[in-house]
Amino acid sequence: MSDQCDPRIRLEFDAPVAVLTVSRADKLNALDAAMVEALADACRRIERRDDIRAVILTGAEGKAFSAGGDIEAWSGEPPEDFGRFWVREGHEAFDRLARLRQPVIAVLNGHALGGGLELAACADLRIAEVHVKIGQPETGLGIIPGWSGTQRAVRRFGSQLVRRMALFGEVFAAEEALRLGLVDQVAEEGEGLSMARAIASTVAKRGPLATETTKMLVNMAEGEEVGRVGEALAGMLAANSAELREGISAFREKRPADFGKKPKD
Ligand code: COA
Repeated sequence: MSDQCDPRIRLEFDAPVAVLTVSRADKLNALDAAMVEALADACRRIERRDDIRAVILTGAEGKAFSAGGDIEAWSGEPPEDFGRFWVREGHEAFDRLARLRQPVIAVLNGHALGGGLELAACADLRIAEVHVKIGQPETGLGIIPGWSGTQRAVRRFGSQLVRRMALFGEVFAAEEALRLGLVDQVAEEGEGLSMARAIASTVAKRGPLATETTKMLVNMAEGEEVGRVGEALAGMLAANSAELREGISAFREKRPADFGKKPKD
């Protein structure tokens, strides 16, 4: 089943797996503002699907998984809007992706550059096809990596690796990226998606709530998100309690709650 609002961000549900594809091959899957918004929207829709247990993120076939933020789009913005909108909206969408309850597997079937690497960094596992190259070329254009390329990328890959890419312009081929921990697996050209599907099917056999809460805890340990995780876990506990049932019954019956009373189930 297909479910899409911007055709350049394709979302296909094939339960238990959702496949998100950046689909703008003529521009090497570069992301503009509307695509970023569509990405956030796709994440919201995935989050609501109980039958989806893993997400595969990839690019439409071509040279790039994604060549990053659309240079023509952001370079035309007034400077202050770069921070107000371009960076902020990118963060909102990428945060949603990184914090999806379902594990995300990125298939780098082409180069991942700049925002393309920032996008891949949101995934829980990265598969690179053997021909791809990975880097952060932004400072060479006179701009900064603004979709968490100096933040989440540092948390996930380590600051030294980010320095090498972002300050010195090093670009890594897939095997080197594997050795450095930028990616987790290398696949033959054209084989990344089937490798990801095999991994996704093993994820789908695991306990969904345990997987979701474990992902939250790992994200919290990493500094990905702290406040929401604490409140979400506490909220899940409270929402499942006899105390809440009594509180709601009391509210509906317009009487004081009696939390000492043995609750009715
Ligand atoms: N934003 C907007 N358009 C982009 C783009 C980007 N980040 N990356 C590629 N494109 C466009 C090109 O402008 C070109 O469009 P056109 O055919 O209308 O001229 C098309 O995609 C193909 O790219 P091209 O540069 O012709 O391909 P190439 O094989 O010669 O080079 C790259 C490939 C990846 C080396 C080169 O496209 C590149 O350096 N892209 C920018 C990467 C980058 O700096 N990303 C960070 C951006 S903040």
